[in-house]
Amino acid sequence: MFFPEYRARRLRRTPGIRRMVRETFLRVDDLIYPMFSAFGDNIRKEIPSMPGIYQQSIEHIVAEAKEVHELGIPAVILFGIPEEKDPLGQDAYSDEGIIQRTVRAIKDAVPELTVITDVCMCEYTDHGHCGVIRDGDVDNDETLKLLAAEALSHARAGADIVAPSDMMDGRVAAIREILDANGFNHIPVMSYAVKYASAYYGPFRDAADSTPQFGDRRSYQMDPANRREAFREAALDLQECADFLMVKPALAYLDILRDLSDRFDLPLVAYNVSGEYSMVKAAAQLDWIDEDRVILETLVGMKRAGADLIITYHAKEAARLLASSR
Ligand code: PBG
Ligand code: ZN
Repeated sequence: MFFPEYRARRLRRTPGIRRMVRETFLRVDDLIYPMFSAFGDNIRKEIPSMPGIYQQSIEHIVAEAKEVHELGIPAVILFGIPEEKDPLGQDAYSDEGIIQRTVRAIKDAVPELTVITDVCMCEYTDHGHCGVIRDGDVDNDETLKLLAAEALSHARAGADIVAPSDMMDGRVAAIREILDANGFNHIPVMSYAVKYASAYYGPFRDAADSTPQFGDRRSYQMDPANRREAFREAALDLQECADFLMVKPALAYLDILRDLSDRFDLPLVAYNVSGEYSMVKAAAQLDWIDEDRVILETLVGMKRAGADLIITYHAKEAARLLASSR
């Protein structure tokens, strides 16, 4: 072929042509907005490392849930900050726990909004680990019982989807079993299937007050260097009847999103985590980047990598940007 028979720039010449050949779309339907529900009254405390994101008491959460729904965002995922933490994280599976009360309040006020609950112990344990401690480490099988009770109690409160993020072996099966045995076989499990031990969770741990009091999470979350292990994790969750698979974090793991999207047919979720959000906010505050463009480029990149859905603290901003770009 002699140069320049094929000229790639012909398809980039006008906005109209660019629109016609665009391959990937970010839609408001793809977004899931995380919220932090705090025990107490009239609390609305901005998280210093996450501008625009708040720890809020239930009445403020409900008000924001309405706003999220009006923006057209289909779903929220809830994290709880309980009144008290203890070694067994009892608030997590109490029917009067912070999340259970929050779910009831949201479903009461905005029934059309899909409510996803994060199922884990670290927000509720005084030691900050994602399960029960035995001999200095998290005991897998003891923890499964608590996670199952937590998921059941979320379902009883009205959660539409439960999302275990603890990384214990067998948790999807344990949750599926207890849900099915109690009349909740219609509630999907969104598994944080591939979750790495990441420094990008730092701002979230400030927000949820869930930094481990000793050690770290490397005996249960994955080593960032591993790829094939991600396939094993996803395959196990598929076998245990997970309904969604998640990769977390997203930005440093776009290859894993692509791999899972190629190999598995379940809806795939990317978690655009707290540290990824904080980096964008910090650079934007310094006027070092064009924030709106960086947000949309980041999210469309996750879609291009294979994500069907994105959990993101940018969801409200992205919904507004998408609406104004029409
Ligand atoms: C709880 C949980 C974490 C996140 C979601 N669920 C923190 C962790 O595992 O330490 C992180 C979310 C984020 O950083 O935005 N296990
Ligand atoms: Zn946890």
